[in-house]
Amino acid sequence: MKISVIGCGYLGAVHAASMAELGHDVVGIDVDRAKVELLSQARAPFYEPGFEELLARSLASGRLRFSADMADAAGAVVHFVCVGTPQKRSEYAADLRYVEAAAESLLAVLRPGDLVAGKSTVPVGTAARLAELVDGKVPGAMLAWNPEFLREGFAVQDTLHPDRLVYGLAPGAEGEVARALLDEVYATIVAAGTPQVVTDYATAEMVKTAANSFLATKISFINAMAELCEATGADVKQLADAIGHDDRIGRKFLNAGLGFGGGCLPKDIRAFMARAGELGADQALTFLREVDNINMRRRIRMVELAREVCDGSLLGKRVAVLGAAFKPDSDDIRDSPALNVAAQLQLQGAVVRVTDPAAVENCRRLWPQLDYADTAEEAAERADAVLVLTEWKQYKELDPVAFGLIVKQKRVLDGRNALDRDSWTAAGWSYRALGRRAG
Ligand code: UDX
Repeated sequence: MKISVIGCGYLGAVHAASMAELGHDVVGIDVDRAKVELLSQARAPFYEPGFEELLARSLASGRLRFSADMADAAGAVVHFVCVGTPQKRSEYAADLRYVEAAAESLLAVLRPGDLVAGKSTVPVGTAARLAELVDGKVPGAMLAWNPEFLREGFAVQDTLHPDRLVYGLAPGAEGEVARALLDEVYATIVAAGTPQVVTDYATAEMVKTAANSFLATKISFINAMAELCEATGADVKQLADAIGHDDRIGRKFLNAGLGFGGGCLPKDIRAFMARAGELGADQALTFLREVDNINMRRRIRMVELAREVCDGSLLGKRVAVLGAAFKPDSDDIRDSPALNVAAQLQLQGAVVRVTDPAAVENCRRLWPQLDYADTAEEAAERADAVLVLTEWKQYKELDPVAFGLIVKQKRVLDGRNALDRDSWTAAGWSYRALGRRAG
């Protein structure tokens, strides 16, 4: 099938390469010429395991190309909209300008019978509005909403082997035609028995924001328990293990620590609250405000803990921060809890050195005021405290004995409950973590 993918960020670039892998003839369109150039040379503009290999394979097959010119989307039967919906400045609501611009410029190439398939995360009601626009300007062209659930670090796997397909369709015959087109696009995935939920626009839009709100709530729930554990001397890791054995609860997304960040969860719960307010249903989501508060409190607590460990004052103390990405296997620093803590420590007078296996380059560009090191060893030289704030495998595997020779004081703060406490304490380190007793 001939497919266009509008917007080649995280979602779009991976989607475009994956659709080519599934055998389709794909053009990825992005307004950013530099990005188009990089992708065309099989170079990923972001760190994502397995993506460059997939990109190279798809380009070599001749089924994938990238362009900065929307005219190149002409001739495609299905046009996926994959542009970003960031949080508006100084407001909770989502900024829809990129979605609107993509839809507007698509109108010039759309033909009757073509399908616009939205994948971006949008406030409920957007699809119905865009469907009117499409149908008004190009009668016979269709719109569907087909949300994407990919996680950074697993983007290729999640796109090629999703755990469900959600189609939000127009009612009646038009919806049936759109469904058949999407089934054709995802034929391999459908044949693998992937569950499908075929529904209306509003439900499809809400599936995405509801899923992310649930995940955020689960993380904040366990972090609220961590606050209580700190007050009572209980251990949040064991608590999570114990409640996680109940398969109604499950152990996944119950890792207490610095909380959630990134380009999705924080902005999605805020946009969801803003949209509920517009719809007169804000009470239904007031709990998400608390989810957000609990999450933000963890960052403040981490700074306090660092101060406590540094004998009550951060002034002039050398602090090593291991991890800057919002999660491991990513170079994404959008709303990164680790960077947020690093910046607060520096503002409070600490001499902070930050390192990360993948994100240092992004950090240097966007946070030039912090000091960066290429390795954990370099960051930790003569440190008064070491903070592990993103649970990269490399940091979990550090040898506490050898690492202890580099620092001035053997004090480690485990912001992600990721280290083996016993081996660190056995090597003479004082060990502190959120929601756990001092070791
Ligand atoms: C998320 C959703 O998981 C995905 O389905 C959606 O499509 C996009 O948003 P992503 O932003 O890649 O994906 O990250 P995710 O793996 O969900 O982690 C989000 C944040 O939560 C990270 O900062 C992570 O460190 C944190 N987290 C996750 C915890 O603090 N504890 C946990 O138990 C799990």
